[in-house]
Amino acid sequence: MGILYDEKNRLFKLDTPHTSYCMGTRDGYLLHCYYGPRLRGTDAAYLARTDEPPYTPARSARDKLSFLDAAPFEYPTGGVGDFRTHCLEIRTTAGHNAVELSYRRHSIQKGKRPLPGLPATFGSAHDCTSLTVTLADDVLGLEVDLEYTVFEDLDALTRSAVIRNTGAKEPVIYLTKVLSACLDMDDRDFELLTLHGSWARERVIQRQRLAVGRQGVFSERGETSHQAQPFLALLTPGTTQTQGQVYAMHLVWSGNFEAQAEVDQHGQVRSVLGVSPYDFCWKLSAGESFQAPEAVLVYSHHGLGGMTRTLHDLYRGHLLRGEWKDKKRPVLLNSWEGAYFDFDTEKLLAMARSGAALGMEMFVLDDGWFGDRRDDNRALGDWYVNEEKLPGGLKRLADELNAMGMKFGLWMEPEMISPDSDLYRAHPDWALQVPGRPAGLCRNQYVLDLTRREVLEYVWDRIEAILTCANIEYVKWDMNRQLSDLGSTGLPGDRQGELSYRYVLAVYELQERFCTRFPNVLLENCSGGGARYDPGMLYYSPQIWCSDDTDAVERLAIQEGTALVYPLATMGAHVSACPNHAVGRTTPMDTRGHVALAGTFGYELDPRKLTEEERSQIPGQIALYHRFNALLRTGGYYRLASYRENHAFDCWQVVSRDRRTALVTYVQVLAAANRRSRRVLLQGLDPAASYRLEGTDRIFGGDTLLYGGLPLEPLWGDFRSRLLVLRMQED
Ligand code: GLA
Repeated sequence: MGILYDEKNRLFKLDTPHTSYCMGTRDGYLLHCYYGPRLRGTDAAYLARTDEPPYTPARSARDKLSFLDAAPFEYPTGGVGDFRTHCLEIRTTAGHNAVELSYRRHSIQKGKRPLPGLPATFGSAHDCTSLTVTLADDVLGLEVDLEYTVFEDLDALTRSAVIRNTGAKEPVIYLTKVLSACLDMDDRDFELLTLHGSWARERVIQRQRLAVGRQGVFSERGETSHQAQPFLALLTPGTTQTQGQVYAMHLVWSGNFEAQAEVDQHGQVRSVLGVSPYDFCWKLSAGESFQAPEAVLVYSHHGLGGMTRTLHDLYRGHLLRGEWKDKKRPVLLNSWEGAYFDFDTEKLLAMARSGAALGMEMFVLDDGWFGDRRDDNRALGDWYVNEEKLPGGLKRLADELNAMGMKFGLWMEPEMISPDSDLYRAHPDWALQVPGRPAGLCRNQYVLDLTRREVLEYVWDRIEAILTCANIEYVKWDMNRQLSDLGSTGLPGDRQGELSYRYVLAVYELQERFCTRFPNVLLENCSGGGARYDPGMLYYSPQIWCSDDTDAVERLAIQEGTALVYPLATMGAHVSACPNHAVGRTTPMDTRGHVALAGTFGYELDPRKLTEEERSQIPGQIALYHRFNALLRTGGYYRLASYRENHAFDCWQVVSRDRRTALVTYVQVLAAANRRSRRVLLQGLDPAASYRLEGTDRIFGGDTLLYGGLPLEPLWGDFRSRLLVLRMQED
């Protein structure tokens, strides 16, 4: 395992347990040669095809452009004749855009360097190896470090890039596009898989046949967004959960991005991923460097399921941090859907008392507790407790909750400012805005210009003051609008193009401070539901609110798309009241519980308003959570059937690491008359073992369940669900 450089073949080979990634140098160019199943030797350099026309310029300079426009580059650049999409584009002060890189040096080290100011996967000298390849453009005095890491026990690798102005030639170079990863291959009739969505409909899986030209997803909204996920995967035709080759890329970043695949004139495909060039222009002065975010690459030889489990393991082991990442989280009761803005201390305590009696462990006070926040039209920025609603402040509330055995958690939206707020009246220039142009409102709020030090320090002071005024053990950090009107009074004209990038860096700085100052506080990120559900935010919070749509049926597709790339224990999921507030649907209480069990699990309702029958089911649901949380948090996730695809039922399975326990969740969305049972093929079991279906005396061979399936009987009525537990039998 690890990374080697074969001097004779001029080939870098990056190995994981089952994959190899190869690149080679030819006449100074760093070319991509291979990514796929593990190779024995180091003979892959020929795959770059430099020995056939149009040849490298060293052999035939006559057709340099044809070479540049066809060669498989590891980090393609603009302005010199590669007319496909690039990773690096620049502009000099003289107005030129040409940049061409050639190999200078490399080094291989054990372990992994943290990326300054950015979230990134981490690893120790025992579990990963890193390679830095330095490329340079001597005309510009520009250097690029391409950094790669492979993990000993995972079929994943990471990439990032550092761009440096050495100052040898140019006092200033403007970077207009810096992507993090490129993967050049031949098209194999690939399908492109991406995730798209909208508010309350996040992470819908889309598969489409790759066509000639550029296609993909992007965000220019200042956050990764409801509308897209910084992810793409190429799949060989017919790829399923268990079969097919999958090449996936995921960006550890929380702002504008692009994820594109381009099929060129020669039937080659170039996939790129990184920060969007939209409104991006970074001034790089002599001696400065720019760090691009990290991209994760996964190759799976065993379909989408293999990709999913590698990403889950990578994020669980090498991205999530802090005390809570490996711990069972308290069963929370969130006030939002139960009370919205209409509450006072007595009402909150009554809700909490009712929840505590049923087994809920933490009360989370959502929006509405500060300033004059009567509704969502005002007061963001005024992070002072509203003592009219909460006499005695948060301290009294927290103390009373603690006295009844409940923890206390709190909602905040620190990045925002309402025009109707004391903060805005005092500092109207603190909102992002373009001088002379009234900034656009979104949910009646503006975005704070966190790139200004005094603004960031104000926000931090308020967070610190609030979190130390009471025993707060959880924070939901929300962000409820997109970025527009990008102007900062703190940046000169030639740096305004850095604003959206610097904004994300400022959010990271605040959250890093949060993690350092309050290491025991459980942080849940949120953005109008799941608009900033990305690997970047996961570095700071081990869970993210998945969606404002809490309907159990709608959640099936949302959670399927989310779990395709994210571990289950990161998905914020709650049981809410019916008719559901997003869609008006009524689903059985146990189905709501089974669906929320796939995520963090909690409640978002006023328990006093439930029917007696609903309330009576809650202790049982909570017992299921306590029983299965360790399995769900650490086990392998297998998607068995998709309601999104079959329009009838959903089914997923989690198997313990030792394969002794499997939990199958079956949701029959629509009932149908005269149906036989559904035989669902299980996955991940030991074929040589036998399993007992809990609650019965039925024993199945692991192989029979894997290859013959488990019959799931029709249930009476719509929106019904069942949990099935299989336990390995001792011989
Ligand atoms: C966002 C969140 C919700 C809730 C509201 C409060 O929409 O996603 O869960 O916190 O804000 O205003």
